[in-house]
Amino acid sequence: MSDAKFLKALGGTRLPTPPIWLMRQAGRYLPEYRAVRATTKSFLEFCYTPDKAVEVTLQPIRRFGLDAAIIFSDILVVPDALGQKVWFEEGEGPKLEALADPADFGKLSRARLPERLAAVYQAIRQARSALPAATALLGFAGAPFTLACYMIEGGGSREFAKVKSWAYRHPDSFGLLIDLLVDAVIDHLVNQIEAGADAVQLFDSWAGVLPEQQLFSWSLDPMVRIAHAVHARHPKTPIIAFPRAVGPAALMYRRSDAFAALSIDTGIGAHWAARELQPHICIQGNLDPIMLVTGGAALEREATRILDKLGHGSFVFNLGHGVVPQTPPDHVAQLVEIVRNWKPS
Ligand code: CP3
Repeated sequence: MSDAKFLKALGGTRLPTPPIWLMRQAGRYLPEYRAVRATTKSFLEFCYTPDKAVEVTLQPIRRFGLDAAIIFSDILVVPDALGQKVWFEEGEGPKLEALADPADFGKLSRARLPERLAAVYQAIRQARSALPAATALLGFAGAPFTLACYMIEGGGSREFAKVKSWAYRHPDSFGLLIDLLVDAVIDHLVNQIEAGADAVQLFDSWAGVLPEQQLFSWSLDPMVRIAHAVHARHPKTPIIAFPRAVGPAALMYRRSDAFAALSIDTGIGAHWAARELQPHICIQGNLDPIMLVTGGAALEREATRILDKLGHGSFVFNLGHGVVPQTPPDHVAQLVEIVRNWKPS
């Protein structure tokens, strides 16, 4: 087990300066990523080529010395491994052959998941052995509700009308899909941990579109079930929950029996999080990714404000969502410097 600063923070230790990593730290804002990415047309094929996935996983670590690497992959490898057709269209994002009715679930099976995702586990083994001991390696998965959104909408969406009306009208059949995804995500996380991931994060990027009752049934409950099942096999591996855009319902997720940390988006105030969430659970977040595009004095002020609010408890510095492609890499270097030089007042 690594003694990485990141893992200490997740274990509840308050450090003189918090560890830092960034969601989507490997990606198109880095010229060295674009160069490797250009060698493979299909995004999924790129994800499934261990040497390339490892190379882009390491790039932001080499450039910025971040405290954690996140394995380069995508949340949509799980629907792909279940047998749903998934592809990425240039400039349009992900596309899936949408599930149209409960009969379509019958086409999905988790039997072949370990074999179909073997390249991800191979990449994790290689990345772990290439990384310094002080750098933690994170695995991840999409949470069941967010995966169901893509699987039923057939891609991104503005209204989420198909997935929501299915869940509201036919909760029993929606529950069957969620149960299948719970089991698939458990398998995927356990396999990542066994390949060498030091911690894992569950991305529920679209949790915020659900009203409170449904948020409990379709976001929190499946995530807690996953966490308990993963911990039954690997009790010491920290799990980070990222229920995006849920506002004050974030209170429901401060479940230290399930999660080591709660990742908060930009919509949650750092002051409120320090008072209401941090006494119960380590917090990760929550700089606006556009502050990283802005840079300069505005970035310094805002990062320092977040550090002053959350840096006194157990905290991992991160963004409220992923790094955007127009981010100047120098601003990431500036942010790392601000975080490392911060002094508690
Ligand atoms: O550095 C990292 O964070 C690791 C890699 C990572 C990717 N996707 C690579 C990627 C991670 C952790 C993800 C998670 C992911 N994927 C989420 C959850 C986080 C979030 O953003 O809310 C979601 C919803 C997806 C689905 C997805 N994949 C979308 C919507 C897109 C298109 C949007 C875009 O930025 O182009 C992707 C493609 C994708 N996944 C890219 C990368 C670097 C860009 C594709 C490319 O390089 O050609």
